[in-house]
Amino acid sequence: MTPEKKDKTIQTEHFTLRPFQKGDEATLQKNINNPDVAKTLTRVPFPYTEKHAKEWVARVTNPELKNEIHFIFDFGKGVEGAISLDHLNQKDRSAELGYWLAQPRWGNGHMTEAAKAITTYAFTNLNLIRIYAYTFLNNPASSRVLEKAGFKKEGILRKAIGKEGKHLDANLYALINPEFE
Ligand SMILES: CC(C)(COP(=O)(O)OP(=O)(O)OC[C@H]1O[C@@H](n2cnc3c(N)ncnc32)[C@H](O)[C@@H]1OP(=O)(O)O)[C@@H](O)C(=O)NCCC(=O)NCCS
Repeated sequence: MTPEKKDKTIQTEHFTLRPFQKGDEATLQKNINNPDVAKTLTRVPFPYTEKHAKEWVARVTNPELKNEIHFIFDFGKGVEGAISLDHLNQKDRSAELGYWLAQPRWGNGHMTEAAKAITTYAFTNLNLIRIYAYTFLNNPASSRVLEKAGFKKEGILRKAIGKEGKHLDANLYALINPEFE
C-alpha cells in the first residue's frame, strides 16, 4: 500500500471520509463511548476511555501501519464515525470492511453511502477483488447496510467471534469487484 493511497480523502454527498489525525481523540472518545455503538462491534470496548482514544489515534496515524486503512466521518465536527479496510491482503486482493457511526447520525443512509464510496475506492485504487464483512445476528441494521451496498450473504460463521466472554455467531457478507464477477 503506498502512502499516497493511504492518505486519500473521499468526498461523498453528505460528508468527507478522511484519515484520522492528531486532535481527533476527544470527539472519537465522545462518540464511540456509547453502549449502543459498542455492543455490535467486535473489537471496541465499553467504556471507551480517553486512554483508548489516545492509543487508537496514535496507532492509526503511525506511518508504519500496514494492511489497514481507516477513514473518519467528517461532517465538520470531528470524528462522528469511522469506516475501515482491515486485513488488507495483497496475495488474495481482499480486505475486511468495518464501521461505526455516532448514534445521532443513524437512520439517514450515511453508512450505506460510506460503504458504497469505500468499496468503489478499494476496487478502483487498491485493486481489490473481494471485500468481506461480519455482522452479529442481532444487528439487522448493519446487515441491511451491506445488502444496500451490494454485498451478498455467504453464510453464518458459528461461534466465530469472541466478545465479552461469549462466542457469537456472525453473518459473513462479501462484495466482489464487478470486473471479476
Ligand atoms: C449499523 C450502523 C452502521 C447503521 O448506520 P446507518 O447510517 O444508520 O445505516 P443506513 O441508514 O445506511 O441503513 C440502515 C438500514 O437498516 C435498517 N434498519 C435499522 N434498524 C433496523 C432493524 N432493527 N431491523 C431491520 N432493519 C433495520 C434501516 O431501516 C436502513 O434500511 P432501509 O434504508 O432499507 O430502510 C449504525 O447503526 C452503527 O454504527 N451501529 C453501531 C456499530 C455497528 O453496529 N457497526 C457495524 C458492525 S458490523
